[in-house]
Amino acid sequence: MQWTVAQTSLSDTKADLIVYPVFQTGEEADLGPLVKAAGGPPKSRRGKGASGHADLGSIIRGAGFNAAGGATLPVPCSGVKAGWFLLVGMGKAADVGLQEIRKVAAAAAKQARTMQAVKVAVVTGALAPAGFDAAAVARSWHEGAEMALSPTGELKTSKEKPAPPRSWILLAAAGEASALRAGLKEGQALTAGCLFARDLVNLPPNLLTPAALATRTRGMARREGLRCKVLGVPELKKLKMGGLLGVGQGSVYPPRLIVVDYKGSRAAKAPTIALVGKGVTFDSGGISLKPSAAMDEMKSDMAGAAGVLGAVLAIARMKLPVNVQVVVPTAENMPDGNAIKPADVLTMASGKTVEVLNTDAEGRLILADALWYAGRGKPDYLLDMATLTGACVVALGKHFAGIMGNSAELTDILKQAGGETFERVWPLPLVDEHKEQMKGTWADLQNIGGGREGGALTAAAFLAAFVDDKTAWTHLDIAGPAYSSKGDGICPAGGTGFGARLLARTVQLLAG
Ligand code: BES
Ligand code: MN
Ligand code: ZN
Repeated sequence: MQWTVAQTSLSDTKADLIVYPVFQTGEEADLGPLVKAAGGPPKSRRGKGASGHADLGSIIRGAGFNAAGGATLPVPCSGVKAGWFLLVGMGKAADVGLQEIRKVAAAAAKQARTMQAVKVAVVTGALAPAGFDAAAVARSWHEGAEMALSPTGELKTSKEKPAPPRSWILLAAAGEASALRAGLKEGQALTAGCLFARDLVNLPPNLLTPAALATRTRGMARREGLRCKVLGVPELKKLKMGGLLGVGQGSVYPPRLIVVDYKGSRAAKAPTIALVGKGVTFDSGGISLKPSAAMDEMKSDMAGAAGVLGAVLAIARMKLPVNVQVVVPTAENMPDGNAIKPADVLTMASGKTVEVLNTDAEGRLILADALWYAGRGKPDYLLDMATLTGACVVALGKHFAGIMGNSAELTDILKQAGGETFERVWPLPLVDEHKEQMKGTWADLQNIGGGREGGALTAAAFLAAFVDDKTAWTHLDIAGPAYSSKGDGICPAGGTGFGARLLARTVQLLAG
């Protein structure tokens, strides 16, 4: 969809539909601003007949619209060029955060699509009672509308849904045009990152193999002007990446290590940030085979990779003054005569040995090599993101990512960023006792903690063994929020794109 900012008056705005946000006072819609903006009490088209001079306010009240959050009401209106208002309920101003703006934008976008509107204008100034600056409003509106209407990448040959609107116009109040434009630009960057991630997650695992993920990443990097390097099996062997090679050896699709570099600053003091994402294109469990129920959802086991790639796309578009390296280890975890098996001992790139006790704990094996690789560049901040454990889903459910690591500073920044993007994170403990549990009988480490208690924490403790203590590091376990089998108002069923906006915003905060 095309997005622009304009300063035309309501009556002159050339659009098919004008979206007008309405707040609630008490249980009632506060229609004062709308009636005023629409130029006094205009006559409705329907009102031309027997109902005579019914004013806008009584028509709207008569339709039962009370501006409850997410409610929509299309109103034909003769006083404006557009012909239609779409009223969207905001609820009470005190309860409206940026996520409510995204949700309302999503509801409005869907209604506009249903009405087959091609050109849609939004009276963003009417959102002022929520108390956000114009840039935040534009950013959030864009995010909500685009994320709700984005095609889900289904491979159906017939199109079922009507086409989304072709263009959106944000109508600027006096003096707000440049702030709206700036917010829109950020929204476009963040949304593009989120949708790039979602599309990757939604692709089926026969089409999104490790090599295909590398090819798609190369394409994205070329479009965004980023450097991209893909290491294949011979190079992984040279680096002695026993974890990534081990997990990949049971698949007919060989593993890869994908590296993307964004150079946003030449200043010596500009922070360097490494983002590592788990890219298991399908997780069958391997020889420790998973049960078949919902195994299809394991195509989403590369959502961490998708999220960090979406993040760097957004970071590049926002031109943040930092240097970012994205490292994605990618492999398919399959059972096979050649697959790794319980009791195998792998030698990792760092030189540490690992006893594989469960081949379904594969994410940590590939991340170990990638964390070591990313750590070689001595980044100021090292963040990894992975659909790592079912235990984290049990602990925190579907709406929070678990966060573990060694840096209170980084954790606080992620908490702040997640509050803003509404990709929420919740801290979980990581202490020496957990690290103790990961020591092996036959090798330095074992890949499961023994027993099911604290599975998210022992997984993080395993990763910690491959991170330099002195590097600020956090691990995000996104097994819960990465995939939604039902979807919601803002996100269709499937990959959610979780983490792309969160990490882009985190990097923006780190950039200062
Ligand atoms: N990819 C899974 C984790 C997962 C579970 C992601 C549910 C999304 C939804 C991971 O590789 C895995 O299988 N973890 C095991 C670890 C166990 C063997 C220690 C798990 O969580 O059961
Ligand atoms: Mn697994
Ligand atoms: Zn997995």
